[in-house]
Amino acid sequence: MYFWEEEKGKHVLKHAHDNILTNIYIMTHCLCSSFLLSGTTWMQEMVSLISSRGDPHLIQTVPNWARAPWLEQYYCAAVLETSSTVPRVITTHLPHHLLGPALQGSRAKVIYVSRNPKDVVVSFYHFHKMANFLPDAGTFTEFLNRFLEGTLCFGSWFDHIKGWTSQTATVNNLLHITYEEMLLDLHGAIKRVSSFLQCPLVDEEVNNCVQHCSFSTMKNNKMVNYTMVPDDIMDHSKGSFMRKGKTGDWKNMFTEEQNQYFESTFKSKMQDCTLEFVWEV
Ligand code: A3P
Repeated sequence: MYFWEEEKGKHVLKHAHDNILTNIYIMTHCLCSSFLLSGTTWMQEMVSLISSRGDPHLIQTVPNWARAPWLEQYYCAAVLETSSTVPRVITTHLPHHLLGPALQGSRAKVIYVSRNPKDVVVSFYHFHKMANFLPDAGTFTEFLNRFLEGTLCFGSWFDHIKGWTSQTATVNNLLHITYEEMLLDLHGAIKRVSSFLQCPLVDEEVNNCVQHCSFSTMKNNKMVNYTMVPDDIMDHSKGSFMRKGKTGDWKNMFTEEQNQYFESTFKSKMQDCTLEFVWEV
């Protein structure tokens, strides 16, 4: 089992029981993987709704962290226990290089969600400020520097996306979908995910999924908007987890100088990667 620990102001990945990951994979039907603040919760909701064919009962009665628990948040037994519904769904933010060996022996369907990193860092900053379990976010400039250096929790966004998406060409059971694609065409995204999960839906079922995983419905669903999390863990007076749900919000946050620094770092770190990003819609 892998977990994060703070060491000298940085988050370091430690591991305890190595072979457990393989067991989790064997027993997992769907793994939702993503860097933080990239649309993870949205995908959890989508997968829950697809598996119940658009029926909202599950998403209205069971919190997302119990329906699709985080691999890195609990010890193995707890993950398997809390995710005992069929199909079993597990969520993770771990980088691919830590999960690759376990993935090879698994038949789990893996969905990797990515989002343009300018919106990720802005969303991450707001989340960091409300999350009392994380260290002080500092100013946005400091936070942006740490994001680009890869020294925030879960490490480098660049390594994360390159690690996971480099697998899509060779691994059949891995679907890469973007936050922006979901935002631009939620109906189409649901059909794509349901077909990947081999759970094709009729139009009425897709429409129900669309309705229940829209931003406004999720914002008002306490089973997914994190308002059930106590204030000492997430301080709701500092903001909402379901904050804006938009693409291009970085434009309201980045200064010209920050944007130039971002662009030059992005260019050099992504020179070996051909992925295209949608920066605004
Ligand atoms: P913002 O902070 O930009 O609003 P994650 O679940 O990976 O932590 O991602 C959280 C981000 O996804 C937040 O972004 C949140 O508002 C957004 N999000 C969650 N559900 C959404 C939905 N149905 N539509 C659009 N954005 C959504």
